[in-house]
Amino acid sequence: MTAPQAPAGTAAATIPRVVHGPKRPGVPALEARNLTKHFPVHEGLRRNRVVHAVEDISLVLPEATVTAVVGESGSGKSTLSRLLTQLITPTSGELLLDGEPVGRSARARRAYTSQVHLVLQDPFSSLNAVHRIRYHLERPLKLHRKPAKAELDALAKELLEKVSLSPADRYIDKFPHELSGGQRQRVAVARGLAVRPRVLLADEPVSMLDVSIRLGVLNLLDELRERERLAILYVTHDIASARYLADTVVVMYAGEVVESGPAVQITDAPAHPYTQLLLSAAPDPDRDRPVVLRGRGAPPSLIDPPSGCRFHPRCPLAMPVCSQTAPPALPAGPDQVASCWLLSPDHRPGPRPAEGAAAE
Ligand SMILES: Nc1ncnc2c1ncn2[C@@H]1O[C@H](COP(=O)(O)OP(=O)(O)OP(=O)(O)O)[C@@H](O)[C@H]1O
Ligand code: SF4
Ligand SMILES: [Mg+2]
Repeated sequence: MTAPQAPAGTAAATIPRVVHGPKRPGVPALEARNLTKHFPVHEGLRRNRVVHAVEDISLVLPEATVTAVVGESGSGKSTLSRLLTQLITPTSGELLLDGEPVGRSARARRAYTSQVHLVLQDPFSSLNAVHRIRYHLERPLKLHRKPAKAELDALAKELLEKVSLSPADRYIDKFPHELSGGQRQRVAVARGLAVRPRVLLADEPVSMLDVSIRLGVLNLLDELRERERLAILYVTHDIASARYLADTVVVMYAGEVVESGPAVQITDAPAHPYTQLLLSAAPDPDRDRPVVLRGRGAPPSLIDPPSGCRFHPRCPLAMPVCSQTAPPALPAGPDQVASCWLLSPDHRPGPRPAEGAAAE
C-alpha cells in the first residue's frame, strides 16, 4: 500500500500523509441501522410514487475517524447526512448515539443536536452577513454551554484558535464578507465545535472553495479528528480527496451503499465495477462540476430504480442474474465488502469492459 498523497490541484500536492490504522475497537460514536428514506412525489394522477433516495443503509462512525461517503450527483449522499443529523425523518431505520437508541422526544432531539453537527457546502450562505463572527460563535456557546458572561469572549476566541484562525483578535469582530471562503468555512466549523459535538457531518465542505485553500480545510478536519476525537462523516464527489483524508470509504450508487472498506484498500483495489468507474474518473479535484461517468448511460431514476443490482444498466460486466436479484454485501478483502454478484462463487464473471467504457 502506498501512502495517500494530497489530491492533485490542492496546494502542496506532495505533502506526505499518515496512513491511519484499522477501525478503533469499541462502540461507535454514531451508528445508523438500516436507514431508508423515500420522498413522496406527486406526478399528475399517479399517486403513491416515491423517490428511493436512501435504501437500507447501515454504517458506523467511530470516534477519531473520518468516514468518506462518495458517489455521483443524486446518489443520496446529502439525504444520508440529513438523516444522520435528524433534519429529516427516516422512512425506517434507527440511529444509535454512543450505542444508545436516539429518542424521539423534543428533549432527546435537542440533546442529539448538540452532539451531531452538520457543516454545509456553502460557507457564504451558512453565516448571517449582518452579524460579526463573535455573534456566530457566542450564540451557540450561550445556548448550549451557558458560560458566565466574562468567559464568553475567551471561549469564542478559543474556538477560532481551534480552527487555526489565529490570532483570534484579528477575526472575531469581522463580518463574514471580510473573510475568504476558506476562513468562513473555518468559522462554520468553529461554530459547530461550540457545542462540543461528538460527530461532525461535513457535506461537500470544500467543493465551493478555491482549489488553493481546499487542502487547508481538509487538513483542519484531519486535525480535529485527532485533537477533538471527533467522528467525522466527509461527503464528497471526489474519491481522491476521500482517499487522502478518510480512514473508511463508503461508496453510494442510486441510494444504496455498493462498497465500503478501508480508504486505501478501496482506492487501490476497488471490487465493485462502479467504484472502478469512479476511480477511473479521478483524481481531478480541479473539476468544478460533479463527475459524470460517460459511455455507460446516466444514473437511473430513483422513482423507478432498476431491478436487481441498480447499477446493472450501466455495468460493463453485468450478467443475467444482475437484473433479477439484488446482490448481497459480500466480502471483498479485509474489512472490505461490495454488493456485486462477481464476488459470489456461484456466478461467473462476464466479459471484460468494452473499450470506451471508462469515465471521462
Ligand atoms: N425533499 C426531496 N423530495 C424529493 N426528492 C428528493 C428530496 N431531496 C432529495 N431528493 C432526491 O433524492 C435523490 C438523492 O438526492 P441527494 O441530494 O441526497 O443526492 P446527492 O448525492 O447529495 O447529490 P449531489 O452530489 O448533487 O449533492 C435525488 O434523486 C434527489 O432528487
Ligand atoms: S452485480 Fe452485476 S451489474 Fe451489479 S455491479 Fe456486479 S456485475 Fe455489475
Ligand atoms: Mg448533496
